[in-house]
Amino acid sequence: MAGNLPPVIAIDGPSASGKGTVAERVARDLGFHYLDSGALYRLVAWAALDAGINLENESGVSDIALNLNVIFNDGIWLNQKEVGAALREEAIGNAASRVAALPRVRQALLARQRAFRQPPGLVADGRDMGSVVFPDARLKIYLTATPEARADRRYKQLMDKGMGASMNALLQDIRDRDARDSARAVAPLQKCSDAMYLDTTALTIDEVVAQVLAQYKLALQVP
Ligand code: CDP
Repeated sequence: MAGNLPPVIAIDGPSASGKGTVAERVARDLGFHYLDSGALYRLVAWAALDAGINLENESGVSDIALNLNVIFNDGIWLNQKEVGAALREEAIGNAASRVAALPRVRQALLARQRAFRQPPGLVADGRDMGSVVFPDARLKIYLTATPEARADRRYKQLMDKGMGASMNALLQDIRDRDARDSARAVAPLQKCSDAMYLDTTALTIDEVVAQVLAQYKLALQVP
């Protein structure tokens, strides 16, 4: 049980379901801290590629994860360099999903993720926030949307950032990533039995944020 630990809202779900945007907005509204756990997996993949380490080399990649020199402060800083937009590239997302399947890498990132739990509270987004990292979260949300809606959102996001993209390739990437994230043996993407299922296919970001905030208010009333 959470005891006196700060409350956590865990938002899990597949690629491009809007978790990041929603989690960040909810955190801002509540004045809570925000953990983008996917960014940690992306950083590990990035740092491993940068160091020329094979992504299947579990001990090499988990060493990178343990020793990651990263600061989240007005952007993401790896070894004192701002990594920002490049981290969001599809190639890094795919590499992240490969290193995320390695049990020792997940283990290496656990304490780092839990350290984000600071007063007055935390909103954390990822795949296993409610199942593994914060099983005692006050509220667990499973955010999803159809693969087509998610590919469409990702396409617009990349266009807004001036990055090129092909709709068909994005849809295929999303399907591949869903399959890999759901099928892996450790901490697979799945809806916890105590998570609330929220399909965002036909909802705007504002509507989703409002629903999460309303659910949190309700959760606070449960002793
Ligand atoms: O939102 P999107 O799926 O594009 O990316 P992300 O949330 O930044 O996550 C990138 C990859 O990291 C995912 O495909 C997952 O394989 C992995 N991941 C994970 O395994 N566990 C987490 N808590 C967060 C991300």
